[in-house]
Formats: sequence, structure tokens, C-alpha cells
Amino acid sequence: MKLSEDFLWGGAISASQTEGNYLADGKRPSNFDQLPLNNQRLKPVFKEDNDNILKNQKDEIFPGRFGIDFYHTYKKDIELLSELGINSFRFSISWSRLFPTGEEKEPNKVGLAFYDDIVTELEKYKIEPIITISHFEIPMHLVEAYNGWEDRRVVDFYVHYAKCLMEHFNNRIKYWIPFNEMNMVLHIPFVGGGIQFSEKRNNLEIQYQAAHHQLLANALTVSIGKKINSEFSFGTMLAAGKTYAYTCKPEDVFASLKSDRDNLFFADVQVFGEYPTYTEHFFEEKNIKIKMAVEDKKILKENTVDFVSFSYYSSACTSADEEGLETVATNGFNTLKNPYLPKSTSVWQNDPLGLRITLNQLYDRYRLPLFIVENGLGTQDILEDGKVNDDYRINYLNEHIKNLVLAVQQDGIPLMGYLMWGIIDLTSVSEGRISKRYGVLYVDQDDEGHGSHERYKKESFYFYQKVIASKGLSV
Ligand code: BG6
Repeated sequence: MKLSEDFLWGGAISASQTEGNYLADGKRPSNFDQLPLNNQRLKPVFKEDNDNILKNQKDEIFPGRFGIDFYHTYKKDIELLSELGINSFRFSISWSRLFPTGEEKEPNKVGLAFYDDIVTELEKYKIEPIITISHFEIPMHLVEAYNGWEDRRVVDFYVHYAKCLMEHFNNRIKYWIPFNEMNMVLHIPFVGGGIQFSEKRNNLEIQYQAAHHQLLANALTVSIGKKINSEFSFGTMLAAGKTYAYTCKPEDVFASLKSDRDNLFFADVQVFGEYPTYTEHFFEEKNIKIKMAVEDKKILKENTVDFVSFSYYSSACTSADEEGLETVATNGFNTLKNPYLPKSTSVWQNDPLGLRITLNQLYDRYRLPLFIVENGLGTQDILEDGKVNDDYRINYLNEHIKNLVLAVQQDGIPLMGYLMWGIIDLTSVSEGRISKRYGVLYVDQDDEGHGSHERYKKESFYFYQKVIASKGLSV
């Protein structure tokens, strides 16, 4: 097998990590705009923490509020990215730019015009837009008034927003990703679901209730979208990465199976249209009672996704008895340190073969086309005489792309494309700062937003340009 002729080579960003201008032209704050510099809020958050941060906001810096000023620089940025030869670009719409509180009936016209312009720019360079409808973002008003996705009414607000968007961009957009990494609602609930915890409640139940509402909103979006345009193609999007067993002890292997299914639960529902059998016992054990309406099961069953898109940064590792074992950070949570993986320049461990393993795992399970919509290396870069020699990133990309090519050629995986994450430097979610950089374009700006804001091509820019020109054969 070969990479398909229409293989999507591109890059990805999100609105909240790039746009900035969080109150411009009618926009109102989102959950992401409330995350302070070096944020620690990847942990479950309580309402009191948020209230305190907001009370003391004069002393805090909120990187989401200034981003990389993509709201004003998008034309130049897209022009620079077009020089890479990309044929696709994933970006997200800011819900709070279109529906500032989330409850408006009509979208903010200035906000809509901004996204029209982005799509026009992409069309100019023959770059296929791939839209994430909600990328870790919800209007702050919905967080405060409804505790975010915990409340079923938020499903209606979201579906109204998604419908407006799909009607507006009918015939201009084909690929839709209703939610970014839905599984993150379990790890970073404020970011993933706009949820604030409470001491007195079963917070895991709140997380799964929010997950149910997002799953429902996803299915309703598919249902409405297919009526608007039957050519629309919808994807689940999960933070993927196979969980390895720390040893071949059966208990460790079973622990890894359990950990994988916790993660895959969301895609399972979106692909198969029903809750997996194991959830019944799990919910009972954790005293979780999900409020479902009679029609929910039918809605989920009838509106499944067309493709499985995912982010991959690293594999994970687990054991039945983790006591005393060293852990490391990975995307959204901590995992056991895998002694077989080499030291990385990033705080996250690198495992390129893990990408091939994950591709096989997902295809074996779902039998749908796969799409890598995020992959990349986040670390510090040094700009010297206008140059960034990021050979560590080149090495990372080279090894990962090599493995995806092998997964297609030798394992026969139907892969739609590869989108590099943070193709232009942006604010990191876990570290709440730009100095954890991912891009092939360097943004001259520090964590507090100071700098010339000029864009520079890193060495990885030229590397990725070659990869795309050779259709992946240069790796
Ligand atoms: C993914 C998110 O989880 O990981 C992105 O979809 C995020 O929004 C990316 O930026 C990398 O993580 P981080 O924490 O380094 O920004």
C-alpha cells in the first residue's frame, strides 16, 4: 500500500491558543481565557480556586488572552504556511467569539466574518480547512451559570452554535471535528468540559455526566450536519497513545487493557453508537448514575462518526502495582516512566514506534479511516541570528513520519493524513506558556507576550517542506 494521492499533509492549531484579542469585536471570555501563566489547572479544579484566581486577576498573566495575535496575523501566517506546501489546515472556531455568552440566538457577525476570511485565505492557497468546533473552549458564562457540560441545556446551546456554523460554511468545509480530545474531560475537566468540582459531590459522576452530554452533542451535530450536507465528514478526536504494560505479568497486562479502555470509551461510543458493556459495572462500582433521556440511546446509535482522528504525542505505561515506580508527565496526565524509551528534549517521552502501534490498535478496533490530527514536539527553542536550529524536532518528526509511512505500507492502515501540531508556536495547554514551542514557525514572543512578534522559519520548516514535496518518501 502507498499513501493515497489525496493524503492530507498539514498542520493544526486551536483558536484559544493562538487568536488572543479575547474581548475584541464582541467576544467574551471563555474557560481558556481564565487560565493563568504556568497554569496548574490541569488538575481537577474547584469553584473556589477559580473564584480566587479571578478575584486576583490584576496580579496574573493570562496567555490565552493574547495568544500569538492570530486574530490579526492570520493572513501572513497562512501565507507563510502555504510555502510549506501543505494541503490542509486544522483550526478551531472560538465559540465565545460567535456566541459570546453561549445563549445568543444569532451569531456575532464580526466573529463569523473573521472565520470567513480565514477560509477564504485557505482557499486561495488550495488548503483544505478542517474545523474543530470546540477545542477545549466554552463561553465562561456557561461555566458560571451551568457548570459547563454538566448541564444538559449546554447540549442545546452547543448544537445551535454547531448548526449555525455548518449552515454558514456549507459547501466550503467538508471535514468537521465536533470536539477536541473528548477523553480529556476525565483528566483536565475545567479545560475539557468547563466543569468546576465541588467538595461535597461525586466528581467522577460529574465528569461522566459531562461526557455523556458531549457525546450526545456530537451525535446531534452529526445528525443535523448530514441533513445540511450529506458530503460532510465527521470525526471523533481522541488523545491517543497505547498504554503498555510495565511487565508481562498478567495483572499488569490487564491493568493496561483497563487503562486503554478508559481512554477509548469516548471513541467507542462515537464509533459504535453505544456505551461499551464494561461501563455498567464500572458505573455501579463508582456509584455513577448518568442522567439520560429516553431518546439518547437512539440518537447515539444512529449518528456515528465517519473517521477516527486522534492526537499522538507518546505512549503510556501502567502496572497493577505502581507504588514506588517513577512517573513522568504526558499529555494531560502522569504515566509510568518507560525504561526502554530514550531521554527526550521534551518533558514527555518520545516513542515513534508507539505511533505505529497506536495506528494498528485503533484500526483493529474501529475499522474506520484514521487521521493523525496532532503530533509534534513541544520544547524550548533558541532564536539566534534569525535562525532556530531545531534538529531535535526534525528528528522527532522524521521518526514519527517514518512510522506512519510504515503503518500504511506494511500494515495496510487507511490513513487520511498527518497534521503537525502547533505548526506555528502557540500557548501550551499543560504549561500555560509559549516557551513550550511546537512550531516550524517561530513566534518571537515571550511567555508574557512581549517581543517583536515576528515569525521565523525554523530548520524544521525546510525539513517538513521536503517531506511534503516528496509525499513522505524523504524520511
Ligand atoms: C493536545 C491538545 O492535547 O495536546 C492541544 O489538543 C495541546 O491543544 C497539545 O496544545 C499539546 O499539549 P501542551 O500541553 O503541550 O500544549
